[in-house]
Amino acid sequence: MHGKDHSGGIRFHDYHPEPADMRAEVVRGLSEMPKRIPPKFFYDQHGSRLFDAITQLPEYYPTRTEIGILKDHGEEMAERVGRGALLVELGSGSSLKIRLLLEALSPSVYMPVDISKAHLLESAERLARVFPDLEIQAVCADYTSPFELPIDDESLDRTAFFPGSSVGNFQPSEAQEFLRRIGLVIGPGGRLLIGVDLLKDTGTLEAAYNDAQGVTAEFNLNLLRRLNRELDADFDLDAFRHHAFFDRERGRIEMHLISVRDQQVRIADRVFGFDLGESIHTECSYKYGIDEFQSLAAGAGYLAEHVWTDDDGLFSVHCLRNSARPTMTLFQR
Ligand SMILES: C[S@@+](CC[C@H](N)C(=O)[O-])C[C@H]1O[C@@H](n2cnc3c(N)ncnc32)[C@H](O)[C@@H]1O
Repeated sequence: MHGKDHSGGIRFHDYHPEPADMRAEVVRGLSEMPKRIPPKFFYDQHGSRLFDAITQLPEYYPTRTEIGILKDHGEEMAERVGRGALLVELGSGSSLKIRLLLEALSPSVYMPVDISKAHLLESAERLARVFPDLEIQAVCADYTSPFELPIDDESLDRTAFFPGSSVGNFQPSEAQEFLRRIGLVIGPGGRLLIGVDLLKDTGTLEAAYNDAQGVTAEFNLNLLRRLNRELDADFDLDAFRHHAFFDRERGRIEMHLISVRDQQVRIADRVFGFDLGESIHTECSYKYGIDEFQSLAAGAGYLAEHVWTDDDGLFSVHCLRNSARPTMTLFQR
């Protein structure tokens, strides 16, 4: 079968979740004990910019370390995963890391998938200026729900790229299920390049989520600003404070917003009471050992083909091969 011609330019596919979905998920999370809000809601346009600012902080080692690994081993990664594929990046953000691999991987199509619409578009436009011959199919979607990948060339091999240790935002059993769903996208034999933050000393981990300039605190609190604007809520941003710590038993950083007084908050037609010291759990970031992550991936049907790390063993990038046989489709094709 002959493939399509793939020429440069951007196509944009918008599956952005409706505000009604966000309202329902936030109300459900705040009705639970303890209260929680899913981390995907951090990323309005300002949240995406704040995340980019976090990546520049001296305490935030993951981004610069993963970039170092991609720079040092990009050619080798391309040899392992193969060239000319449909390259799907999940949670592509500013699409900066993929630039380090584009020449080596030389994909037929680059498909960034992100929930943050304006930021995704800006990033795709910036990328298209630097790589004018690259076909970019940008998809605005929530990757935690099934959605249709807009693929119009079934002849292409598929590679997935999931950097930034975003897999750590899932509970391990959910992470395994998510990896299984990625396997359905890339198909049997398809490769997944995935960045995973490694377990390390508590001081380094906690500093990364409690930077001295308070950018992470601002990122966390921006969630409430977003709910005020988009869900007609009345959170007082001065009445909550950022709190992040490492739970070694569970192997995860937890981020919270802590109520600094007894208070009531309205979201549309609902009212939620907060006691002094009560928290909203806003993010988990699981850290893994290399073997531990590889066995989690094995449970999702992957063979661990290779892992690259930095000299200090802070971060890892894994090349996984999907060895699962095709079953039912969760990402529709
Ligand atoms: C931690 S940032 C990582 C950004 C970039 N990949 C990197 O490694 O620097 C997470 C990215 O995933 C996106 N994201 C978070 N949850 C998502 C979801 N449920 N569906 C799609 N994108 C999501 C965010 O908008 C953001 O761009």
